Amino acid sequence: MAPNGEYRVGVVGATGAVGSTILEVLAERKFPAAEVVALASARSAGREVEFAGEQLEVRELTDESFQGLDLILSSAGGKVSAEWAPRWIEAGAVVVDNTSYWRMHEDVPLVVAGVNDDAVEGHNGLVTNPNCTTMQMMVALKPILDTAGIERLIVSTYQSVSGTGRAAIQELREQSEAVLKGKQVEPKVYPHQVAFNVLPQVETFKAGDDYTTEERKVMAETRKILGLTEAVGISATCARVPVITGHSESVNVQTQRELSPDGCRELLAGTDGLVVLDDPGAGIYPLPIAAAGRDEVLVGRIRRDPSHDRCLNLWVVGDNLRKGAATNAVQVAELLHRRHLVRVPAGAALS
Ligand SMILES: NC(=O)c1ccc[n+]([C@@H]2O[C@H](COP(=O)([O-])OP(=O)(O)OC[C@H]3O[C@@H](n4cnc5c(N)ncnc54)[C@H](OP(=O)(O)O)[C@@H]3O)[C@@H](O)[C@H]2O)c1
Repeated sequence: MAPNGEYRVGVVGATGAVGSTILEVLAERKFPAAEVVALASARSAGREVEFAGEQLEVRELTDESFQGLDLILSSAGGKVSAEWAPRWIEAGAVVVDNTSYWRMHEDVPLVVAGVNDDAVEGHNGLVTNPNCTTMQMMVALKPILDTAGIERLIVSTYQSVSGTGRAAIQELREQSEAVLKGKQVEPKVYPHQVAFNVLPQVETFKAGDDYTTEERKVMAETRKILGLTEAVGISATCARVPVITGHSESVNVQTQRELSPDGCRELLAGTDGLVVLDDPGAGIYPLPIAAAGRDEVLVGRIRRDPSHDRCLNLWVVGDNLRKGAATNAVQVAELLHRRHLVRVPAGAALS
């Protein structure tokens, strides 16, 4: 713990895939915390989690457990954030939320650090992190938007199982072992076997909608973060693949002004938070196993779409638990700290 830390920080969902990574990133980046409190459900109360080489005892999320906290980084699911975030704010804590519940609310900023930092200004006690799939794409698309404008986007994703949390990682491991031993597999987390398979369904289908909730999030959140009007066409198809960590995306971007593949490569290579790996003939391109554990988003396979003069294809890969969730949450907390915004404005209320 930083001895000169200013803030009492709560991590809600501290035992989960995202929460445990938040603890790692807070320690790595030496976030100015005076104290870190690990919170989860009653199931995990009394368990220990690691923070900065020490063991923290997990406390149950109750009305008493968050009193006196200045900042809460939350990743315990949408239901928990829906119910508890207003209470955390009322108790004086600023919330950085990883769940989808508040993201599209008009008075709630949806922020990718390094892309739309100014959106944190005027927050009402809560700032949200986008979905991990959207997050990494924003890092790659923002410089293209600023340089050449965007007319249309078509994205197809290949998403890892850690995007669904701890239980899904375990399911892939157990299923892989079972299949290799010739045993029967019983899917629990996903609707079908995920080991040695590809599922063209990420999250759920709502009645009457032939796009999944994940696909809807990618389309709506992209629009909100980049400030794209309805005139910009966006289409997403999301698939789950048997990879533990790291989402891959094929992004087809139609620009307003012409941008050559070389120009795009140069532009992206000069952007913070992005690494261009693009020598496909030599087998050099982004891979999830290379992105896992890194904060940068990897981009490669940058090439002209032969069907359109102002269209490029990109392959974008990022660690869904780091920049896709935990690293961005901590970067947003740092941003709030730098701008003296770790305070709940008087009369703040979520609508
Ligand atoms: N995984 C990703 O790549 C990713 C990326 C961006 C956003 N997100 C979002 O982040 C959230 C968490 O995802 P995850 O992957 O970390 O899931 P996870 O591994 O299943 O972890 C869930 C965490 O929430 C806690 N929790 C569940 N119910 C709770 C309750 N009633 N009260 C307090 N704590 C509770 C769990 O604690 P127990 O140990 O007590 O069960 C656990 O710590 C989700 O909303 C997800 O959509 C995930």
